[in-house]
Amino acid sequence: MATTPIPTLTSKAGCKMPAIGFGTSQLGNCGEIVAAALKLGYRNFYSEGTSATEKGVGEGIKAAGVARKDIFLITKVSHEYLKADAFAKSVEESLERLQTDYVDLLFVHWPAIDGTPLAETMGALAKAKREGKARHIGVANFNIAMTEDAMRLCPEPLSALQAEYHPYLDQSKVLAFCRKAGLNFMAYCPLGRGRLFKDAVLAEIARTRGKTLAQVALRWLVQQGNIAPIPRSANPQHMAESLQVFDFSLTDAEMKKIHALARPDGRIANPQGRAPKWD
Ligand SMILES: NC(=O)c1ccc[n+]([C@@H]2O[C@H](COP(=O)([O-])OP(=O)(O)OC[C@H]3O[C@@H](n4cnc5c(N)ncnc54)[C@H](OP(=O)(O)O)[C@@H]3O)[C@@H](O)[C@H]2O)c1
Repeated sequence: MATTPIPTLTSKAGCKMPAIGFGTSQLGNCGEIVAAALKLGYRNFYSEGTSATEKGVGEGIKAAGVARKDIFLITKVSHEYLKADAFAKSVEESLERLQTDYVDLLFVHWPAIDGTPLAETMGALAKAKREGKARHIGVANFNIAMTEDAMRLCPEPLSALQAEYHPYLDQSKVLAFCRKAGLNFMAYCPLGRGRLFKDAVLAEIARTRGKTLAQVALRWLVQQGNIAPIPRSANPQHMAESLQVFDFSLTDAEMKKIHALARPDGRIANPQGRAPKWD
């Protein structure tokens, strides 16, 4: 299957990332799957900061033989490690597991819940960038006010916000903020972790378009601009199909119909005690 070229998103701070990525969580044979994803044409990988996943991603990249410079590699620092020393150690350990000297994008994964001052974490994030361990930096699961604080307190510019986004969740406020602030929006759970798959509206659009339901959901995200979804899949057919979303467009009416699917209970990742007050 020939793959249409993947567009690039550019943040105000100059971070260029492929407009679709690959999620790597909960993949049993992560290394093999990452190598297969590279062969299919994926160049943007979001690696969870867990040992098994990062090791798998590192091994997969090595096995595929694609040059490191041609891959946009992302990892995160978990909320337990947001104090300066722990942060630096977490970055070092991630780089070691990923078998690389740098990541292209480093996220703070969730806001602190142990009272660690945001300024301390932002200082540690900027330090990783200044030391060349992260080319670009960003925050994940921060609300708009927290992201504004992070941008103000960070000595280096932020390039991305990562948050959940799919047709069952209204993220219009966050997306508008990202556009204004010049941040790339990275959409996790872009297929609603499978919850979308019985949706009649998506199924009907997919049928008329001759596309799969997942492709329509991903197209709806990328067509909004400034969004890079990171679908996760262990199925080679699905992996290939998710890349084929740049060769068709949805009409304005179809886009609106999908926007109208948002529901108040659409959010999936909402850990009690850790999630901020969402916008
Ligand atoms: N930062 C955070 O707090 C956070 C939170 C949650 C997730 N994430 C990241 O986001 C990534 C994606 O989220 P997710 O895994 O929760 O959910 P998701 O990508 O929305 O959904 C994954 C499910 O969709 C299926 N799928 C994928 N592509 C498909 C296709 N083209 N056609 C049909 N089915 C398809 C997969 O099954 P098959 O394997 O059978 O294809 C899997 O069951 C994760 O890997 C993780 O890295 C980050």
